[in-house]
Amino acid sequence: MPHFLDIHTTDKFALRTMIDQARAMKEARNGLPKATPDAEQPLKNHMVALIFEKPSTRTRVSFDVGVRQMGGQTMVLSGSEMQLGHGETIADTARVLSRYVDLIMIRTFEETVLQEMAEYASVPVINGLTNRTHPCQIMADVMTFEEHRGPIAGRKVVWCGDGNNVCSSFLHAAGQFGFDLTFTGPEALDPEPEFVALAREQGSAIEIIRDPARAVEGADLVVADTWVSMHDSQSNRERRHNLLRPYQVNDALMAQAKPDALFMHCLPAHREEEVTNAVMDGPQSVVFDEAENRLHAQKAIMRYCLGV
Ligand code: CP
Ligand code: NVA
Repeated sequence: MPHFLDIHTTDKFALRTMIDQARAMKEARNGLPKATPDAEQPLKNHMVALIFEKPSTRTRVSFDVGVRQMGGQTMVLSGSEMQLGHGETIADTARVLSRYVDLIMIRTFEETVLQEMAEYASVPVINGLTNRTHPCQIMADVMTFEEHRGPIAGRKVVWCGDGNNVCSSFLHAAGQFGFDLTFTGPEALDPEPEFVALAREQGSAIEIIRDPARAVEGADLVVADTWVSMHDSQSNRERRHNLLRPYQVNDALMAQAKPDALFMHCLPAHREEEVTNAVMDGPQSVVFDEAENRLHAQKAIMRYCLGV
């Protein structure tokens, strides 16, 4: 069953094919009104369930629009309104949903929920973010980098801040797409050692450098994310802010990277916290291209899962 659960568990060749197909599908639409159907309708007669146990703007809207452009239909479900939120097991939910829909996308907390959904569903399951990873985002990010700067292989990406779920998927992508990644942030928020080791085994140079100015030297891409993720306890907010403040991406930090370095953020951003307005709205920022490319990348991911 071709689920899309994570970047490191998806075939490298398939990942490349998805990026290339996403770019081709984007070009084929070339400024068409958003509701215009794609010339090809690969999801015609397909029903897709989009389950959210956490808030979302981009994931929710981009999946919904993507399915509709490809001729399919969606239903958006909030976890708390399903029996899932009232004790029905994930396995039973997966079995039941598989009788109604052709594809399930789920955004949840624990990775085990995603895994159980995939194990018991008889239709493909897509990871729309867990506490541990966010693979759809990084597919869009790889696509965005390559649109602006050509192949990402061999490039240097610098992750600034919290070694969180988005950082984990960036590490997976480093191994699979062949780029290097430097993490700069406080030791207490280091990325998962297992994922660092995996990317290194795959041949990527993964460095951990505490000094942000030194870390971004030679960077082709600088990336930031929120200092407090949806699954983080608000009681740790102040501690996290204090630890992460030195890693804010601002003009002074961007000046240490390559002159043509790009800036990315998966959004939502907390302006003037992890990134300044000047960088977010500056010439190196491609944050809204990233957001747009969620749509195109996920359309290719869904086609991969459904084999259409
Ligand atoms: N980047 C991202 O996944 O955004 P949403 O939380 O709005 O879906
Ligand atoms: N790290 C963030 C990403 C949001 C898209 C979170 O998990 O809240």
